[in-house]
Amino acid sequence: MEIRSVGVVGLGTMGAGIAQVSVQSGHETVGREISDELNERARSTIDRYLTRAVEKGRMSQESKDAALERLRLTTSLDDLADCDLVIEAIVEELEPKRELFAELERVCRPETILATNTSALSVSAIAEGLERPERVIGMHFFNPAPVLRLVEIVRAERSSDDAVAAAYAWAEGAGKQPVRCNDTPGFIVNRILIPLLNDCVRVLDEAGVSPDDLDKAMTNGAGWPMGPCALVDLVGIDIHVHASEALHAALGEDRMAPPERLLSMQREGKLGRKTGEGFFRY
Ligand SMILES: NC(=O)c1ccc[n+]([C@@H]2O[C@H](COP(=O)([O-])OP(=O)(O)OC[C@H]3O[C@@H](n4cnc5c(N)ncnc54)[C@H](O)[C@@H]3O)[C@@H](O)[C@H]2O)c1
Repeated sequence: MEIRSVGVVGLGTMGAGIAQVSVQSGHETVGREISDELNERARSTIDRYLTRAVEKGRMSQESKDAALERLRLTTSLDDLADCDLVIEAIVEELEPKRELFAELERVCRPETILATNTSALSVSAIAEGLERPERVIGMHFFNPAPVLRLVEIVRAERSSDDAVAAAYAWAEGAGKQPVRCNDTPGFIVNRILIPLLNDCVRVLDEAGVSPDDLDKAMTNGAGWPMGPCALVDLVGIDIHVHASEALHAALGEDRMAPPERLLSMQREGKLGRKTGEGFFRY
């Protein structure tokens, strides 16, 4: 099945980025938020990113204008009725996602592929109780979605081969590097990276290392493109803690639990780049 039109539900950090990827790659895109204000916030975020691309010579003004014209914003789910693919990027909670997928099932055509961008929930659990769970898959983008090329295409228990193949092809056509995986906790990257970053944070205290030196050690000694403290600051301490807790709850390894140091940073509101302070000041 060829995907021409795309719906994105939830236009926060991830959804706005995913909508941008979609319009930039030539797809008519309908974005749905819960208020006009949030829709306009998403439009101006996308506009800002594209303007920067034009200023840096990476995109022409015409391409930017055409991309923005492909973006339609709505607060009504009914406007997603004609989409071939709908990507959900709302709050990371099971019940709201289940309710949304049940509504999407009512609104969209039977062949529309329904994808969730969940990081830590089970895609199979989100699809449970639907009439057509075979068309539900995971499409796990990374933040910032317009920049990072990886998309994990997640096959849930009942996902059809066709749905997985169509989502993979769409992601590839949108300039991404998709990979396929099963619906296991943390999928690929978070399953590996979260416990590893937690180890890095524990080493700060165990070995008496400063965040600066730890980052210097891992970039120069292990060839990491970015130090672990800078990376956790970029992801956001709260997001990382939440993902750690979910992985720990699902798989139970001690190293998956968030280190005390991160929990206290979260209590103090030092959430990384977004609050101006985490391991480093911004
Ligand atoms: N932030 C990340 O780094 C990251 C990375 C990969 C995946 N994810 C996943 O993506 C999803 C979204 O995360 P985020 O960081 O963008 O969250 P966010 O809080 O920035 O955005 C969520 C948006 O969804 C909107 N929303 C809530 N319910 C809605 C509904 N029923 N219809 C339409 N809009 C609705 C909210 O108003 C909000 O703007 C989560 O499942 C998260 O786990 C996040």
